[in-house]
Amino acid sequence: MTVALPPVVDGALIEAKLRCLLKFIGLETLQAPVTQHQSSPVEAQTTERITFTPGLPVPSRTFEIVKQGGDRPEVADAVTSPPDGYLTIFDAHHAPAEADPLEAGHQTRHLIDSELSDNGILLIRDTGLSNAESCSRFAQGLGYDRMTYEPYGPPRKKIAGMDSVTAVPGQFRQDIHNEMSYNPEPNSKIIFMCLQPAESGGENLLAKTADFTSQISAATLQRFNNKGGVRYLRVYNDPYHGTNIMSWGERTGCDTLQSAAQYWRDLGFQPADITSRQDGKLFVENRRPACIHHPESGDPLFFNIAQTRVKPVNSTPFQITYGDGDEIEDCIIAEIIQAHWNATVALRLEQGDMLVLDNYAALHGRLPYTGEDRTLLTLLTRD
Ligand SMILES: [Fe+2]
Repeated sequence: MTVALPPVVDGALIEAKLRCLLKFIGLETLQAPVTQHQSSPVEAQTTERITFTPGLPVPSRTFEIVKQGGDRPEVADAVTSPPDGYLTIFDAHHAPAEADPLEAGHQTRHLIDSELSDNGILLIRDTGLSNAESCSRFAQGLGYDRMTYEPYGPPRKKIAGMDSVTAVPGQFRQDIHNEMSYNPEPNSKIIFMCLQPAESGGENLLAKTADFTSQISAATLQRFNNKGGVRYLRVYNDPYHGTNIMSWGERTGCDTLQSAAQYWRDLGFQPADITSRQDGKLFVENRRPACIHHPESGDPLFFNIAQTRVKPVNSTPFQITYGDGDEIEDCIIAEIIQAHWNATVALRLEQGDMLVLDNYAALHGRLPYTGEDRTLLTLLTRD
């Protein structure tokens, strides 16, 4: 199936809410936003930096197709650059790199807290932060209550205490999603710090959850509601009887079932969600509503990963079904994926760029890329 995306207006640039972050780390008050009507050198310089490639091609196969055997629909030929006003942009003019990243992080915290809610997506260009150590110190300066990534699979690679982005190989697309929507306590924000863009490709995919949600039919929302939302089941093997399925020891780093169960409870899972079996397997199962409300704005959001449905086969270690255990139908999956693509845009991060997302308000993913050097660090926050 192919969805025709709207044509890209030639030369379209992101410019809404383009603001300048002068005196980035000084004691001065942040300069007032630079509007497009002001003709300052800063504006000219900033505008010139923000260019996007329209109509980026979307390869037809995804990581999930390869992984799950090829039953996913194909839905997009191209994805466009963000329209005017889509995200809020600041230019740091390299200032954090020229000062103590700890202090720069502290100043940036104020910026994020005051500006992120406007669009749910905030781009800070040209921080100059160029290595994991300075990013780590910057992250410390931000002062957020940090979370670690807790997916179904293996923990992420760490660099200087920071999480690297997903290990999905570069030749595969990573479709958009809200981070950890399947867990009882998802992160509030996700921050990407670009140390090295890909040789080619690797653009970040973005979508507004509200835009996406508005395209899901009332009948589908009702169906999820009637069937108890979405059920996520993880099955981990006994680490002392090796198989090719991940063990609870690998996932949690714990060496006893009791401590592994506590690990899940610390993530917000209820004791009833966690059951151990006689064969040493650990079942972790939770149900989440398919639609939630944004914790601050109250906007209804279709917030789940139902589109990555995994059929309820006994040997499958991870299953995603309706809350009542029934398989989610093909037509529902197709509708969700189509709605995703209809709402998705692509953005290329350059070295030193920082992308801050309200994890409830925005989804993220990335296009395939070439080369070995693409390096993005992530930071997840509770607050
Ligand atoms: Fe993610």
